[in-house]
This record gives sequence, structure tokens and C-alpha cells, in this order.
Amino acid sequence: MPVLTFMVDQQLVLQTEVPQATRLIDVIRHNAGVFVPALPWRCGQGSCGACVVFIAPDASQALPCPRLEQAVLARRGLDPVASSATLPHVPRLACHIQVASDLTIYIHKE
Ligand code: FES
Repeated sequence: MPVLTFMVDQQLVLQTEVPQATRLIDVIRHNAGVFVPALPWRCGQGSCGACVVFIAPDASQALPCPRLEQAVLARRGLDPVASSATLPHVPRLACHIQVASDLTIYIHKE
């Protein structure tokens, strides 16, 4: 099973195995307030843009990024494609990510 590693403000807060194809937002919701901070998710379906997390560029490229996700991120001034060339971590929507392999998730408290 894939291992998810959660880093919050650069501190490792949780490592957990999850079944293949688990939605990342479901893992975050299950652990919210205990191990990881609650994201201000609302829709759970990729349209509100509230569930932004950051992952490594190579991990992001291995996961599909549908047009809807790109458009929602763009509305928030975030671009996963441009970010992968310039930033260490790429913004993605947790409710669009289905876990396929080991993944490190970076969450920044606001
Ligand atoms: S919860 Fe709305 S976009 Fe993810």
C-alpha cells in the first residue's frame, strides 16, 4: 500500500499507509484536527479550491491534473505547471488526488 507522509510547516506530523486510489482529501478529513490541520474544504469535488496542498514536482507530474483542477487553481492565482519549474512544491487540490504511490504532502498553516 502507498505511504502518505504529511509535513506541516516543515514538521513531519503523520505517516500512514492507505489503499491504492484513496482520495487524499478523505485521508486529510479523517485525520483533521488530530494529526493534520483541517483544510477549509467545502465542496469535496474540485470546484471550490479550498483544499490546496503542495507536493513535489515529480509526484505532481505523475498524477493527472484535469482542466477543472487547473482552472480552479488558476482562480486562486496558483499554477501547478509553472510552479513545477520554479518552486520546490507544486500546488494541487487534495480532492483531485487519488493516491497511486508513496507521496509526501506539504501543508502550510495560514
Ligand atoms: S474541497 Fe473544494 S476543491 Fe477540493
